[in-house]
Amino acid sequence: MASFNRRKFIQSGSLAAVPFLAPFQIKDPIQNKLTNYESERLVDFTFDGVFLNPEEYSQKLLDICQKNKMGRDFYGNGGIVRKLEEKMAAITGKEKAIFMPSGTMANEFSLRVLSGHKAKVFVQETSHIYRDEGDAAQSVHNKRLVPVAKGKAELTLEELKQAVSYHNKGEVFKSGIGVISIEVPVRRCDAKLVDIKEIEKISEYAKANDIKMHLDGARLHLASAYSGVSVEEYSSYFDTVYISLYKYLGATGGAILCGDQEVIDQMPRLMKIFGGTVFGAWPYAAVALHYLEGFEERFQKSVKKAEDLFTQLNQLPGIEVKSVPNGTYIHHLHLDKNINKRKLSNFLSKNTSIKIYGVAEPQGHITLRLTETILNQSNDEIVKAFSQGLQAAK
Ligand SMILES: Cc1ncc(COP(=O)(O)O)c(C=O)c1O
Repeated sequence: MASFNRRKFIQSGSLAAVPFLAPFQIKDPIQNKLTNYESERLVDFTFDGVFLNPEEYSQKLLDICQKNKMGRDFYGNGGIVRKLEEKMAAITGKEKAIFMPSGTMANEFSLRVLSGHKAKVFVQETSHIYRDEGDAAQSVHNKRLVPVAKGKAELTLEELKQAVSYHNKGEVFKSGIGVISIEVPVRRCDAKLVDIKEIEKISEYAKANDIKMHLDGARLHLASAYSGVSVEEYSSYFDTVYISLYKYLGATGGAILCGDQEVIDQMPRLMKIFGGTVFGAWPYAAVALHYLEGFEERFQKSVKKAEDLFTQLNQLPGIEVKSVPNGTYIHHLHLDKNINKRKLSNFLSKNTSIKIYGVAEPQGHITLRLTETILNQSNDEIVKAFSQGLQAAK
């Protein structure tokens, strides 16, 4: 009965009480089961990173709290939140970092603060800022977004200059260009990269013209693993850099914004004004910091392992995995017409702890996302699972 109540308690989501469950962990068979995360065997090709369910998340927090005697934060100040901020500032080579409840807030506040009174912000037409933030820049922050590189991930200095010149020549009242914002990798373009040489050139141009630079690096480490450009080098071309805490770092939400102290110090008041100050951000920060430790090495390993895995899978009849040109962690899985996608997906998840989508994209392929969960099973196991799944799905 006692164990039942404790389990129910965890399920109810009372995270504040989680550390007090610690003494019961070893004896309680139900709680012991919780330590065997489903995700310990799971190879997940559907999300951008580790995706813990509520029980696993609670357990993970408990493990982390027990291992590192971390302090909590108050309104984002101190404790594990500060540790994460310091680590992110060091990784990006910036003076300071701050936790924010969402990447959308990090992006929008960067544009607002960096551009000051200047009205225009140049963005990729495919970017999250332009297409997926509810026109916040225009409707809340008084910025006019100017889209460039329509339908593409790549953005060149030439395209940018043309767009700037078009506006400078064609408009009598100069409202000023505040920021050039670049997203890498580009979510709407199958997580494609932007050439680092172009970024470098754009950054030089921006400096010469007194324009600030913002990087939407929601998945920056994933870009870095494929381009070979370090997170620090990417960041060096930008005034502010945002990195997500939940895309690939396992947290249930949250973002980090890095930049000069003078810029970051303006954020707490803005967060308060817009109702974004979180009283206790430690459950996000603790898990993100945990997965951040050693992430680069694990993901490099994952990329190499995936290359070998996809080569092996491509030798099976009826299946082909293709990488995206200039892409990163997203791959396209093509299946012969006689293979039922839903059946394959169901077979894999039920029998082998491998998750793929059972539904194709409009273009016909299934999107495979490479995550560090690929390390949870050997390539031989994964190939065997697909081989059996393909038979079962005919
Ligand atoms: C590239 C990119 N930028 C920003 C965001 C916004 O992040 P959040 O959901 O934390 O607001 C996302 C989320 O999907 C994204 O993909």
